[in-house]
Amino acid sequence: MRVVSGIQPTGNLHLGNLLGAILRWVEMQDRAECLFFLADLHALTVDVEPAQLRANVREMAAALIASGIDPARSTLFAQSAVPAHSELAWLLQCVARVGWLNRMTQFKEKSGKNREGASVGLYSYPVLQAADILLYRPTHVPVGEDQKQHIELARDIAIKFNTDYDTELLVPPEPYIGGGTSARVMSLRDGSAKMSKSDPSDMSRINLSDPDDLISSKIRKARTDPEPLPDDPALLDRRPEARNLVGIMAAVTGESIEGVLGRFAGQGFGTFKPALADAIIALLTPIRRRFAELCADPATLDGQLVAGAERARALGAPTLRAAQEAMGLL
Ligand code: TYM
Repeated sequence: MRVVSGIQPTGNLHLGNLLGAILRWVEMQDRAECLFFLADLHALTVDVEPAQLRANVREMAAALIASGIDPARSTLFAQSAVPAHSELAWLLQCVARVGWLNRMTQFKEKSGKNREGASVGLYSYPVLQAADILLYRPTHVPVGEDQKQHIELARDIAIKFNTDYDTELLVPPEPYIGGGTSARVMSLRDGSAKMSKSDPSDMSRINLSDPDDLISSKIRKARTDPEPLPDDPALLDRRPEARNLVGIMAAVTGESIEGVLGRFAGQGFGTFKPALADAIIALLTPIRRRFAELCADPATLDGQLVAGAERARALGAPTLRAAQEAMGLL
């Protein structure tokens, strides 16, 4: 089993990233050869200050290690430190079709009304993501639900490459999405929008850096309905905000939805919300402590990223070389 996944080093880690991706990556370290990277090239697709980006890469590396990614067992690196990602991306841009990229919902969301003013990189972003994955021929790509379309595109690109060049070099990847609500943690303000670092309202998300009292206040102010919690999970289907909070509780404590409802059925949010805030604080407190320690020693972090990049370069080189040969280069 080989696992590959990435995260954009844009600002802070939030509970959606943690439950949807990172804690699942941590688990997979026991079962698979793992490669995890900070997608700093993807972060360039929108405006970011160079000094800020540099700081974000280090901070995100610290956040991943603090969450349980072990750089001795997993290959942890910055995407830009492995040039083969960019080199394979160009080759794949000549395989991917404009029509395929036109269907990508994330480009439509992120470019908004200003599509003509968006960077070309924001448009071709999913092809770089395909290269990130295909370079390492992984068996599993653990992501949250929002990345599913990008993984399916990587699959289409791999299949077309293999067909066009009569090879089995690229392994069409499958998205590996977690069960339950952790696959799609929703905004605390709107049960129909995902929790996201680009949401203008900070009250919509729980950040790793939030102090305890802010976490309690965000959960207390989270949008809900006046009904008590039901005993049957099916009764949450038409209550997206309630379903989200119950789902977060289940993911944070490791219980099932039924288990959570077993504890809280018949009770209102006045009881549930403080318990949820406590559970989130219990999950984040040790991660935050470790994060602060790691950030105080940037030289060690940098050394770990350099070592990870060296391993990743060696693992990716044969695929890039074979792709170049298949296409008639060299
Ligand atoms: P990014 O940085 O937006 O998110 C990192 C991971 O967190 C998951 N995630 C969520 N899961 C559940 N609920 C949420 N509200 C939520 N928000 C984020 C994402 O699904 C993702 O797994 N394009 C990618 C980074 C990337 C990548 C790759 C991923 C670049 N190359 C190759 C996998 C493989 C991104 O922007 O993720």
